[in-house]
Amino acid sequence: MKTYDTLFSTQTIGKRVAQNRFVAQPMEGNDGIGGAVSPRAIRRYVKLAEGKWGIIVIEALSIDAESLARKDQMVINREHLDGFKTLVSEMKKADPNSIILFQITHSGRKSGKAFSHPTALYEPQEGEHLLTTEEVDEIQRKFVDAVLLAEEAGADGVDFKLCHGYLGCEMLRPANIRDDKWGGSFENRTRLLRESVEQIRARLTRDDFILGSRISYYEGIRGGCGTASADDAVEDLTEMDEVIRLMASMKLDYLNVSAGIPGLTSEITRPTNTSKWFYLHQFRYARRAKAIAGDMKVFGSAYTVLQEESLVAAEENLVRGDADFIGWGRQTLADPLFPSRVIGGEDVDYCKLCSGCSKLMVKQEQVGCIIFPQ
Ligand SMILES: Cc1cc2nc3c(=O)[nH]c(=O)nc-3n(C[C@H](O)[C@H](O)[C@H](O)COP(=O)(O)O)c2cc1C
Repeated sequence: MKTYDTLFSTQTIGKRVAQNRFVAQPMEGNDGIGGAVSPRAIRRYVKLAEGKWGIIVIEALSIDAESLARKDQMVINREHLDGFKTLVSEMKKADPNSIILFQITHSGRKSGKAFSHPTALYEPQEGEHLLTTEEVDEIQRKFVDAVLLAEEAGADGVDFKLCHGYLGCEMLRPANIRDDKWGGSFENRTRLLRESVEQIRARLTRDDFILGSRISYYEGIRGGCGTASADDAVEDLTEMDEVIRLMASMKLDYLNVSAGIPGLTSEITRPTNTSKWFYLHQFRYARRAKAIAGDMKVFGSAYTVLQEESLVAAEENLVRGDADFIGWGRQTLADPLFPSRVIGGEDVDYCKLCSGCSKLMVKQEQVGCIIFPQ
């Protein structure tokens, strides 16, 4: 039997130590109740905690009840705080050692028209409201509040969602040509992150609270992250390298490297059988980030497509120094107990790459694995 010594070794992240290098990537469940945490969501996450992941990133939680990408997305606000407290305490009962991060987001253009309010930072399309300077100021305040609520709920840290085409990502892009303080120059496009982190640090009470972010190194669209200008779609990572250096200089604890925009350039985000080799791009992005990330820990993405071989790839990439943590997305739905089963020598249910979970998400139904329903 193969051993995965590095994958199962501990690793520091900020002032904390993760029990192993397995990361359960954020996966939207679309099963909140009016924005609140539901019993189904608690069951899903308790199951993951039983799997003994080093780090569990709770799915995209909206900072705003008006910016939902999923009709039943959970919303992190004071009204729902008790539910989040219960979620964390139940997970900690199942495994006190797993580090729990909340991913916080604003869905921007990706908010659903049928149940929410799509907004744009630049060039609004039909049905999208162009955000005013003051409205973006308000969004920024909500990001800060969401982090403080996550701390109050007992989370170990937060993940700033700056990936996959949501507002945080739209803000960073060269295509964000706003002419106010929230667009145009690199300084303006990174303002949301810089100012939020500064304000958060001044107000957090725990000094071991983890702060990190998930980016799409390359989105694959004209003027997207990972291009050289607003009118170019070809990959040029120079500016995103600067974003990473900025994050390192701000002393973020980690960077979760992803790519693409689900629904638009989905193959880049989540390779399937017919687009399997895109995983090599994701490996390349993590390697490149690792080379410039300084003390920030780097999470790699998109390992699920390799199924059982993902363990070998994960171990190799850790040993080679191409990542510090390894993230699985769809695999967490196929088998939430993945790490504990591997270490226990038990059979693992490997994701069949059927995209059933993505289809449920697109249909606005509750998300889960259709092959191995838990
Ligand atoms: C159903 C579904 C829900 C997802 N939800 C999120 C999310 O909430 N936040 C996020 O950053 N990525 C989300 N993703 C992307 C995954 O975290 C991950 O990056 C992607 O599935 C590729 O990893 P994998 O190949 O290991 O599945 C989601 C993907 C799927 C299929």
